[in-house]
Amino acid sequence: MQIKIISILPELLESPLSHSIMQRAQDKGLLKIEIVNLRPYGKGKHQQVDDYQFGGGAGMVMGCEPLAACIEDLKSETNFDEIIYLTPDGERYEQGIANQLSLKDNLLLICGHYKGIDERIREKYVTREISIGDYVLSGGELAAAVLVDSIGRLIPGVLNDETSALTDSFQDKLLAPPVYTRPRDWNGMQVPDVLLSGNDALIENWRYEQSLERTKKRRPDILRDND
Ligand code: ADE
Repeated sequence: MQIKIISILPELLESPLSHSIMQRAQDKGLLKIEIVNLRPYGKGKHQQVDDYQFGGGAGMVMGCEPLAACIEDLKSETNFDEIIYLTPDGERYEQGIANQLSLKDNLLLICGHYKGIDERIREKYVTREISIGDYVLSGGELAAAVLVDSIGRLIPGVLNDETSALTDSFQDKLLAPPVYTRPRDWNGMQVPDVLLSGNDALIENWRYEQSLERTKKRRPDILRDND
């Protein structure tokens, strides 16, 4: 899979996407990430990419021309399956969308800043608009990093233990059960006996019950969505 990301702050994206599982995915050739700096497409000496809003009001808007020039350049090399704009007024991101996107070959992500991007770019190019939650970030970069990380780890072969993504929270619309490692007794706090029983069926059943309990208590909204 190839993911290109348009940003005016590439540095913000470099670190989160160049460690741990994301780096491994790239080293294995399973994921190619290209961060495209929008600045050189900006106007004049200052490579300006934003301008005042028509109609007045505080906050600048990222303009059509630099974005369109950048997107056209990228489209001339790649046939994107989706062009995604990260924005707080997009559809709310969740595991199901990550699963869908992990099946694509080419994604283009656009990170906004200030008051966002000119509506005409959204109309002309953007195929999907995604919000990572009901709060406002200073720009789309952290949201883009969240998308790439959550999608990248689902690409077959990226995780060592292929099944481990399947047992993540949300993957079966339940939160994950509690997990334990050594020591068995930590300052008098014990690992549940069932996990030491060696009985796979019992352990699976216990984990399912724990997931259900945890989901009922913490996220009853997810259970209602399953109906
Ligand atoms: N840009 C600013 N806030 C955002 C959010 N919550 N989700 C996605 N992109 C954003």
